[in-house]
Amino acid sequence: MNELAIFPLSDEHKMIRDAARDFAQKEIAPIAAEFDESGEFPLKTVQKMGELGFMGIEMPEQYGGAGMDTLAYVLALEEICKVDAAHGVVMSVNNSLYCHGILKFGTEEQKQKFITPIASGKSIGAYSLTEPMSGSDAGTMRSRAVCEGNEYVLNGRKSWVTSGPVADFVVVFMMTDPSKKQKGISAFVVEANRPGFIRGKKEPKLGIRASATSELIFENCRIPAENRLGQEGDGFKIAMTVLDAGRIGIASQALGIAEVAYEASRQYATQREAFGQPIGAFQGTGFKIADMKTRIEAARLLTYNAALAKEKSKQSGGRYSLEASMAKLFSSETAMYVAHQAVQIHAGMGYSKELPIERYFRDAKITEIYEGTSEIQRMVISRAELGLK
Ligand code: CAA
Repeated sequence: MNELAIFPLSDEHKMIRDAARDFAQKEIAPIAAEFDESGEFPLKTVQKMGELGFMGIEMPEQYGGAGMDTLAYVLALEEICKVDAAHGVVMSVNNSLYCHGILKFGTEEQKQKFITPIASGKSIGAYSLTEPMSGSDAGTMRSRAVCEGNEYVLNGRKSWVTSGPVADFVVVFMMTDPSKKQKGISAFVVEANRPGFIRGKKEPKLGIRASATSELIFENCRIPAENRLGQEGDGFKIAMTVLDAGRIGIASQALGIAEVAYEASRQYATQREAFGQPIGAFQGTGFKIADMKTRIEAARLLTYNAALAKEKSKQSGGRYSLEASMAKLFSSETAMYVAHQAVQIHAGMGYSKELPIERYFRDAKITEIYEGTSEIQRMVISRAELGLK
């Protein structure tokens, strides 16, 4: 069920949702557990997602994208994540953290050069903001970009980069003027084949194990000045604007995880018997089902609403930070709640690797952490509500 009375879906929305569902069921479902176990990157299925247009859903067709709206992106991502959240995060980063920023802040030449290969699915994109000593407090980064003639020389260490081990292009944030703090940060697009671009160790992770995460190290990495996005000093605002879009992607990912964990639990509650009746007939289970379902539908409303708010902002130019943060906060906490209850309802079978329930549980956790922890989302929401920023 992903149609709500207040969000009637168009034929186009239904078409992309069904195409994503079909692809995920046929191509990803058979390999999801194997790649989760091995931690190997599922390049073939990621490439197929690109061929089907899932890597640049909102990008204009002239840059290799599918030219659809944010709700289409959310619906497709939700379907992919119902089957495998690891494929989902690669899709989310390509669409929002990478392509969206270049579309919004790039020159015409940058859009042609840097969006087209990613949106058309031929290459993989990444976004690199975090550093070992700069996570939630993103403005305190130490990496330096120094302008020398018509080039920048990049030096520093970045961490927790989704798709870092496989990306062909990365949007990177570095200090160009440390004396200005946040206002001294600039954004660049870096091609991964540049000398001095070094991929660090791949992170072993609890969940989304088939997605590849690593450090990126820059050692005198020279890039042309025309690879800078926006003006010098615009980097922090670009990073934050892009994260607003990214957070809608993570809300959709969390919604997908919650839905699949819920559906498995609902079915199990009607089939598994104890003390002479289906376990769903006991209030201890039935009330869990009620709370899971209610929270999922509330998460869906917030997530689809954030998608519509982003769509509106394309015309108005206004921000949708509040809607994106509320969707990300509620949806990720719903995913964690639902996955936790799903393990409990399945009991021993929920803990076993014979079923994917334990994978949903492991995958759900990251949605409360990356692209801004739940604490950061609460900061964004409360500051906006209290007029503190
Ligand atoms: N859009 C546009 N501008 C924004 C903005 C937004 N969403 N948020 C802040 N700004 C602007 C502010 O208006 C302000 O501008 P002025 O100076 O002109 O007034 C400026 O940016 C500084 O804003 P703040 O004073 O609010 O900045 P802050 O230091 O207090 O931090 C924060 C704000 C919300 C906590 C921010 O640091 C933040 O979001 N931190 C979390 C970072 C994060 O999500 N990291 C995850 C990285 S990606 C990842 O997870 C890996 C991956 O690969 C998936």
